[in-house]
Amino acid sequence: MSKKKVVVLTGAGISAESGISTFRDSGGLWDRYDISEVATPEAWERNMDLVIDFYNQRRKQLYEVEPNAGHYALVKLEEKYDVHIITQNVDDLHERAGSSKVLHLHGELKKVRSTADENLVYELKGWEMKKGDTCEKGSQLRPHIVWFGEPVPMIPNAAEISSTADIYIIIGTSLNVYPAAGLVNYVKPGTPIYIIDPGDVFAAHIPDVRFIKEKAGTGTLKLVEELLKKDG
Ligand code: APR
Repeated sequence: MSKKKVVVLTGAGISAESGISTFRDSGGLWDRYDISEVATPEAWERNMDLVIDFYNQRRKQLYEVEPNAGHYALVKLEEKYDVHIITQNVDDLHERAGSSKVLHLHGELKKVRSTADENLVYELKGWEMKKGDTCEKGSQLRPHIVWFGEPVPMIPNAAEISSTADIYIIIGTSLNVYPAAGLVNYVKPGTPIYIIDPGDVFAAHIPDVRFIKEKAGTGTLKLVEELLKKDG
């Protein structure tokens, strides 16, 4: 018999215990930086140096952190389930933990792409991207990140995956940012939905959700152990 499909939507909260700041918690990244100055196409036009530096700092930090118990628990879930992770995170901690199916909605910190041709995407060697680094066609490279105001190209794939879930788990996202927050609307009625988050998540649009009000490390492990006891 084929395995049941578990779809997991993750946000910054799953990487918090690895030491990466979330965005909207107090002291989070958007307390310290102005979104419009570092994470929009206009910012890139106005002050490329600042944008490059912002993502260089994030990337540098990513080389200093490790996956945590939350990431590893999702790997363990693959023993019995077909696990598909849809992450809003631009870190690679799910992959480094060993998850096999990871879709990045908002891009990937360790990749850069051409400003002339969005299909020219490259793995950056090391943490530093520099002004003057160019693609094979000679155009400036930019971070491979979906900025505010830009389309989210992976949304149709993520919606498709969400619509075929047998179990849906949401971990560590404030569900403030669309279209990601709307993916749960594609989940079939009657599908069990869980939210693991120690904070108050806006979930009025999600029917019959079971809240696990814990940090990702402990909360995910508990739920995974519970699901592994059932038939996968
Ligand atoms: N474990 C689980 N959840 C946690 C933890 C933890 N240890 N610590 C904090 N959280 C929760 C917070 O309670 C909050 O609900 O993580 C969530 C983080 O929310 P945001 O900072 O808004 O991050 P996210 O939802 O991922 O942001 C979405 O916004 O800025 C953009 O593109 C960026 O992908 C990002 C998107």
